[in-house]
Amino acid sequence: MKPDIVDQEFSPYTMASVIIGTKVEQKPNFMVCTWVSRVNRNPPMWMASVNNKHYSLEGIKTNQSFSMNFPSTSQVKETDYVGITSGRKVDKSKVFEIFYGETDVPLIKTCPFSIELTLTHSIRMQDHTLLVGTAQNSYLGREYYTDGLPDMSKMDLMIYTGIPATYWSLGKIVGKAFSVGQDFNYL
Ligand SMILES: Cc1cc2nc3c(=O)[nH]c(=O)nc-3n(C[C@H](O)[C@H](O)[C@H](O)COP(=O)(O)O)c2cc1C
Repeated sequence: MKPDIVDQEFSPYTMASVIIGTKVEQKPNFMVCTWVSRVNRNPPMWMASVNNKHYSLEGIKTNQSFSMNFPSTSQVKETDYVGITSGRKVDKSKVFEIFYGETDVPLIKTCPFSIELTLTHSIRMQDHTLLVGTAQNSYLGREYYTDGLPDMSKMDLMIYTGIPATYWSLGKIVGKAFSVGQDFNYL
């Protein structure tokens, strides 16, 4: 029996919960973006798909820069807040404690991991624009390391699933990548 055709909105896998930061009309603004991914190794490049109507997009296009901030589960309320309010109506510039790196892009101090990016490609689609940015700097708080290595359990980053629309914490490690497959006897 074949599987049933499902609603195309169904997008089953986990996504990152990322807060995109930019300046619009000189003021910091933040929005949630879950359609995010790393897309190039060297230089490190990331993509985000942002709705053509979002206020943030105006700032990103004007400044040719944006930040990606990866919140921990303890930041769930303020994260969702910037995902359900628009900078057109609400001043979101003080929701987070901000710092600046080498560019004029606002980064969130309280997020365990943040990246400042310059916009390198932009593809306008029907209702979203695919933004590709090159990372200028990435920031990880000192308290998130164990034995000199970034520690995911200390960061406790938040992930997201589309249906039902929910934020999740990471589960447990199920295998060592580039390694567990070596024990798979296929042939
Ligand atoms: C869980 C969640 C995920 C979201 N993912 C995206 C996304 O991937 N792309 C996007 O354009 N908007 C996404 N949004 C919507 C924007 O964050 C939201 O419309 C925000 O208010 C835009 O802010 P702005 O108008 O100040 O730019 C998401 C919102 C939530 C709550």
